[in-house]
Amino acid sequence: MSQLLLKNIRQLVTVSAGGKPHKTGPAMRDLGVIEDATLLIEGQTIRWAGPAREFSLQLGDDAEVIDASRFVALPGFVDSHTHLVFAGSRESEFAMRSEGKTYGEIGRSGGGILSTVEATRKSSKRDLKQLGATRLDAMLRHGTTTVEIKSGYGLDPDSEIKILETISELSAEQYTTVVPTFLGAHAIPPEFKKNPDDYVDLVCRRMIPHVSRRKLAVFCDVFCEDGYFSVEQSRRILLAAGDSGLKIKIHADELAPSGGSALSAELKAVSADHLEHIDDGSIGRLRESGVIGVLLPGVSFFLNHRYAPARSLIEGGVPVAIASDFNPGSCMSFSMPLMMTIACTHMKMTPEEAVTACTLNAAAALSLSHEYGSLEVGKKADVILYEIPNYRYLPYHFGANHVAMIIKHGTILEFR
Ligand code: NIG
Ligand code: FE
Repeated sequence: MSQLLLKNIRQLVTVSAGGKPHKTGPAMRDLGVIEDATLLIEGQTIRWAGPAREFSLQLGDDAEVIDASRFVALPGFVDSHTHLVFAGSRESEFAMRSEGKTYGEIGRSGGGILSTVEATRKSSKRDLKQLGATRLDAMLRHGTTTVEIKSGYGLDPDSEIKILETISELSAEQYTTVVPTFLGAHAIPPEFKKNPDDYVDLVCRRMIPHVSRRKLAVFCDVFCEDGYFSVEQSRRILLAAGDSGLKIKIHADELAPSGGSALSAELKAVSADHLEHIDDGSIGRLRESGVIGVLLPGVSFFLNHRYAPARSLIEGGVPVAIASDFNPGSCMSFSMPLMMTIACTHMKMTPEEAVTACTLNAAAALSLSHEYGSLEVGKKADVILYEIPNYRYLPYHFGANHVAMIIKHGTILEFR
């Protein structure tokens, strides 16, 4: 089996969890940092990690050895919430917001999600795949090795399937680990404007069974928000999804208090995402139900909306993750280091909490933290080397790409 030894790593940020699926409270600040470290990878897997002076294993003759004394190593980022398969772009809406229009107003006047639906319906699977592949490669170059991708810009059976098939082909062909989510309930499509419950029927009776039968998604998500899907409609859809064997995520309390967080706790969703308008009672419910809170600081930044109460969530014992929400409307960025910077400056998360939120807890938001999200023996070797003096430098020196080397499943992808 191939061996790759990284020796004399300046700082190895293990985010070690000692077998736990995620970190909560003060433990989110414990990154298990090892100075002057060694990491041995065999095949796709981490075989040894620890202080250089303690390494004593015998290497095979063809082992590749890399001097990493200039580099800080972190687990590859896990972006647990994206909408990256879309056609077109919405810089005109960005310009309208700079002149005072709100995201809600633009959506109600026919822009927003529905304008991307129009462009995506018209796009071929081949074109969508090309767009998706380019985006996944760019994300990889910025340190993201695992990405969740939602459908939701199709909103009819054929177009939703086209997007999910695109995601499935990307998953097979790209280096990145891809997790597919069915988000047929992203918005009410224009043809069902007058009878939205008929669309909910279509999602529950036709789309979910089809998606599940063909194994086109692992998760089902719903945009639970006034003007999109009510708590009642969301519950119906997610119960149907659960019955079909899909795991559950919810876009919850993004634009206003919507009841989405309480529903996430009730249905024991894997994650409740957004939470900008979560109330104190729901924070307790999320903790009790073991739901991961996925925060999307790029959205609040890009739309100039309020930020999720990260401190109350962390101090309330909710395992907090950070994701980009990469999409053309509310966050046209996939940079996880930038998300960390915004989390530190606007949500008062510490750099340590932000790293945990983008790695281990993010993997937990995809039910994948047994394989990804920390650099521990037995886990997959998704390792990013950065040319920086220490890990705090990553969110501190923002807007630059500090990646020096990408290792995915034990293979070096790129030197720069
Ligand atoms: O997560 N909230 C719903 N969906 C996206 C925005 C999608 C869009 O504007 O195209 C979000 O913010
Ligand atoms: Fe989203």
